[in-house]
Amino acid sequence: MEKILIEGGRKLNGQVQISGAKNSAVALVPAAILANSDVIIDGMPNISDVFTLGKIIESIGGNIAYESKNTSNQTIHIDPSQMALKPLPNGYVKQLRASYYFMGAMLGKFNEAIIGLPVGCPLGPRPIDQHIKGFKALGAEVTNEQGLIHLKAKELRGARIYLDVVSVGATINIMLAAVKAKGQTIIENAAKEPEIIDVATLLTNMGAKIKGVGTDIIRIEGVDTLDGCRHTIIPDRIEAGSYAILAAAQGEEVIIDNVIYEHLESLLAKLREMGVTIKESDEQILVLPSKTLKSVDIKTLVYPGFPTDLQQPFTTLLTKAEGTGIVTDTIYTARFKHVDELRRMNANIKVEGHSAIVTGPTELKAARVHATDLRAGAALVIAGLMANGVTEITGVSHIDRGYENMTEKLIQLGANIWREKTTQAEIKHI
Ligand code: EPU
Repeated sequence: MEKILIEGGRKLNGQVQISGAKNSAVALVPAAILANSDVIIDGMPNISDVFTLGKIIESIGGNIAYESKNTSNQTIHIDPSQMALKPLPNGYVKQLRASYYFMGAMLGKFNEAIIGLPVGCPLGPRPIDQHIKGFKALGAEVTNEQGLIHLKAKELRGARIYLDVVSVGATINIMLAAVKAKGQTIIENAAKEPEIIDVATLLTNMGAKIKGVGTDIIRIEGVDTLDGCRHTIIPDRIEAGSYAILAAAQGEEVIIDNVIYEHLESLLAKLREMGVTIKESDEQILVLPSKTLKSVDIKTLVYPGFPTDLQQPFTTLLTKAEGTGIVTDTIYTARFKHVDELRRMNANIKVEGHSAIVTGPTELKAARVHATDLRAGAALVIAGLMANGVTEITGVSHIDRGYENMTEKLIQLGANIWREKTTQAEIKHI
């Protein structure tokens, strides 16, 4: 186990390269098993969630090869031709929530899946009722046998499915099963996140017939077979957004490279409202912070609204702004575990209901803090970069699940950040 140490207060400058999107990657890998032959994906992020999914692929007889495992933008080859239906009870499946995409993918491939119930970052309740509703509509019988979900269909048949809640996971999972179902599936009230479009692009390259992704009605004509193909993943808008926030907080001139500007519009609009200058060119944005920042309110919404995954990093930035800002999370109403840690660092934040009320500006002070989840980790790294003194962050494995080489990227921008082994006493305390 490692911890991250940051000597705060340094100004950041230079260019940072954004990696492939984590939330696409974790769906593209399970999606690849639907093919009969090799699927090659370029630009995959070098993060532990991808390697964990690779282990799951291997455990059911698939083969996954990494062309350059230790560098960013790796190319992976997935050979699903020898896969067999096997239960996926525990172990790797429990390490990441996105392993639930094997439900839809195995159902599509084998008409059956047996898989442990997903866990995930502690963000409050995270039901999967809409995924199950979709699988049942497609003809699967679904039973829960002591925490193992068993999905089985004689034959998957297309259906009209209205999602009661707009859900990224349910939209993708239903799509994964429906591409192999007989006839037409219509997903109504579908989510529109760019990662869903990325998964649909891969499936279409494999031979699937999907229309309407990116709108709230997706139409899928099932096909009998899907073939291997080559695909390039989209850049990670949440990683890019996290760097834009830290550039606004502690940068002088930071260029964020490999960005699809349109994916970040809600965040960049809010940064501009605060007084930050943002310039966009082809695949880059330049962030020029202002000396004084004005507070703003944010409310997280489904795409294209403000993303819940940037709410925690943004809360850290608000501690530097003048006035009071209200951060309301309508997607994960309890996603405020970072607030207690920020308070340890002298932030003035109150949580009331589904909102955090941030009053600033306050000068953050270094402290020993713990990352309870991935984006809380990013929020604390940004706080550490802003604070006076040396901040120690434990819970680093959460950060490594979703941010490729974060310490290396920050060193390149001029941060004084390093890793040390956690002591036995610290592990016991955690
Ligand atoms: N929901 C239900 N029933 C369902 C599914 C979802 O009530 O069957 C609710 C959830 O409880 C939540 C809302 O619907 O309140 C949205 O959940 P969604 O299903 O969209 O989230 P997810 O697919 O589980 C993905 C990302 C999250 C991101 C959310 C929202 C992946 C692997 N995860 O989760 O990313 O916060 O969408 O955009 O794509 C992260 O990257 O840190 C992260 C948690």
